[in-house]
Amino acid sequence: MKITVVGAGAVGATSADNIARKELAEELVLLDIKEGLAEGKAQDMMQTATLLGFDTRITGTTGDYSKTAGSDVVVITSGIPRKPGMTREELIGTNAGIVKGVCENILKYSPNTIIIVVSNPMDTMTYLALTSTGLPKNRIIGMGGILDSSRFKYQLSQQLGCSPADLNAVVVGGHGDTTMIPLIGFATWNSVPVAKFLSAEQQKQIVADTMVGGATLTKLLGTSAWYAPGAAVAALVEAIVRDEKKLFTCCVSLDGEYGQNDICLGVPVVIGKNGFENIVEFGLNAEERAAFNKSAEAVKSMNDVLKTL
Ligand SMILES: NC(=O)c1ccc[n+]([C@@H]2O[C@H](COP(=O)([O-])OP(=O)(O)OC[C@H]3O[C@@H](n4cnc5c(N)ncnc54)[C@H](O)[C@@H]3O)[C@@H](O)[C@H]2O)c1
Repeated sequence: MKITVVGAGAVGATSADNIARKELAEELVLLDIKEGLAEGKAQDMMQTATLLGFDTRITGTTGDYSKTAGSDVVVITSGIPRKPGMTREELIGTNAGIVKGVCENILKYSPNTIIIVVSNPMDTMTYLALTSTGLPKNRIIGMGGILDSSRFKYQLSQQLGCSPADLNAVVVGGHGDTTMIPLIGFATWNSVPVAKFLSAEQQKQIVADTMVGGATLTKLLGTSAWYAPGAAVAALVEAIVRDEKKLFTCCVSLDGEYGQNDICLGVPVVIGKNGFENIVEFGLNAEERAAFNKSAEAVKSMNDVLKTL
């Protein structure tokens, strides 16, 4: 198993660190355009191998895609992150060119790879990766919903005073402050609906705090977060590499599912060795379906911006 992470910044390096610790690959390549950055971080991580007890060979390269040849999974984190006060959507002008170029270069050396898109605005970057490469749709997966669902569980656990591990809760829709939909009606604490323990006001607050979870951290950190994004990337890579058939919310191409076409959006999918293997349809109520359609509209208008770049 060989895995490449493009972009050795905060999210890329943390993803690589988690992938190595989980020993998901024999070989892990970090690639960045900033001279020496990927090589330096790769070496630094390799010097943790004996301390942490992993046996993955990590190497770094400044822009040499031949080093990524034969990758089974490629994670794209290259691009600028947002600064406090910015939305993810404002990154499109810079990141679209980066993501498109990276996809082209990757496929020259790894034509059979599965691509995981992390760069923001992630839903639109996933759509761009799909439409610009023409790869089978199961091999292009945007990572956002796994992170947002984890943040949702964190917010619920804070209010419930329980372990996040005992919670089942998903966020669907876009990966944006206003486009994500934490499905509180489906959330359970070990199978008991959370609504049994939380007032309507508390539920509303949890949903609102989840939606701005990333923005809250950006305000505190001065840039976008990396620990939870890196862990979420590694969980997705693990589900592919170990053929786990995990049900995760991922951004994938919709062909009629959830009433949507010509869009990549966050929905529950089964993840295994072929990428995303099928889409699971939740029975959304009228309010949730309306929110999903609104989210799709917003993502589609962002996708339209691609035509103007
Ligand atoms: N999908 C998610 O859930 C999620 C979560 C967090 C961050 N993000 C996004 O991930 C991206 C990376 O965030 P970060 O905090 O790691 O940023 P960062 O600035 O720390 O790292 C980005 C790296 O990309 C590199 N890069 C730029 N252009 C490149 C190119 N053409 N080829 C290779 N490398 C290139 C830069 O040199 C830099 O090292 C941002 O767009 C951010 O918004 C997404």
